[in-house]
Amino acid sequence: MILPLRFCRLRYQRYNKGVKQSTSFYESSGKIFIKSRAELETMAAAGRMASECLEWIVRQVEPGMTTQDIDDLQVDYARREGVVAAPLHYRGFPKSICTAVNEVICHGIPSPKQVLREGDIIGIDVTLIVEGFHGDNAATIPVGEVSADAMRLLVAALEANRLGIEAVKPGARLGDIGHAIQSHVEPLGFSVVRDFVGHGVGRGFHEAPQVPHYGTPGMGKRLTPGLTFTVEPMINEGTWEMELLRDGWTAVTADRKLSAQYEHSLAVTEDGVRVLTVQNEEGKWEPPGRWVPPDYPKSP
Ligand code: MF3
Ligand code: CO
Ligand code: CO
Repeated sequence: MILPLRFCRLRYQRYNKGVKQSTSFYESSGKIFIKSRAELETMAAAGRMASECLEWIVRQVEPGMTTQDIDDLQVDYARREGVVAAPLHYRGFPKSICTAVNEVICHGIPSPKQVLREGDIIGIDVTLIVEGFHGDNAATIPVGEVSADAMRLLVAALEANRLGIEAVKPGARLGDIGHAIQSHVEPLGFSVVRDFVGHGVGRGFHEAPQVPHYGTPGMGKRLTPGLTFTVEPMINEGTWEMELLRDGWTAVTADRKLSAQYEHSLAVTEDGVRVLTVQNEEGKWEPPGRWVPPDYPKSP
């Protein structure tokens, strides 16, 4: 029987009530959870919704908005679709989405006092829980017109995400991913953040393994089909070193220069990779949030 969408949403809402409590087991065990075919289909549904949500938010960003307005959009979306925004109350995080303006590397907390101005760049990190599984994706976008330097950083960070994911296939190793990213951005004069890494994703928000965005080819854990994780390189204009602000969450560049990040959730398949946080059935890479820089050749 096909239920009206309204009923499905109610079902999600009931189901999702207990979800937050149970995710911690998948995080603290340190175990790698290889997903079954059925679990992968649910993860693809979660990923697709996370991608739609990120795209919907990205399209509405404009100068004069506050980062709280962006959080409000996330809350609206989750309510309307009957899904859960994972960040809220996660390890005490106070909001439903992470925002990262200019020198913020990640985990910025939306605030009604933070107004976006023309020339800023903002990272938006959406994680949804759908039928118990997380879809985690992020994009950094310009607010109005930005400097040529800022645009170069965005393009390099987007390309780093694409190249890192291109290195994913069974038999490859985690170090191959990090190397693909590092060897692209460092010759351009940019640096790779060390203090935050990609992560296994599934019923847990952050599962094993950790996925560094720097590394040596042929080193690290071997990738096998059914492994699901994120690739989310944070690329800095200057030093890779960071400082944590006194709110205990916001990570900023030590030199206060710009930082940019693009994130996808993905699955290792029998013959390569399936990107989960996209809107095409095949799981082909698309720019996260479908934001494409002017003149970027790899359009969705
Ligand atoms: N979405 C982030 C990531 O990519 C994690 C945010 S944790 C939060 O891993 F608590 F800040 F929401
Ligand atoms: Co992530
Ligand atoms: Co994220």
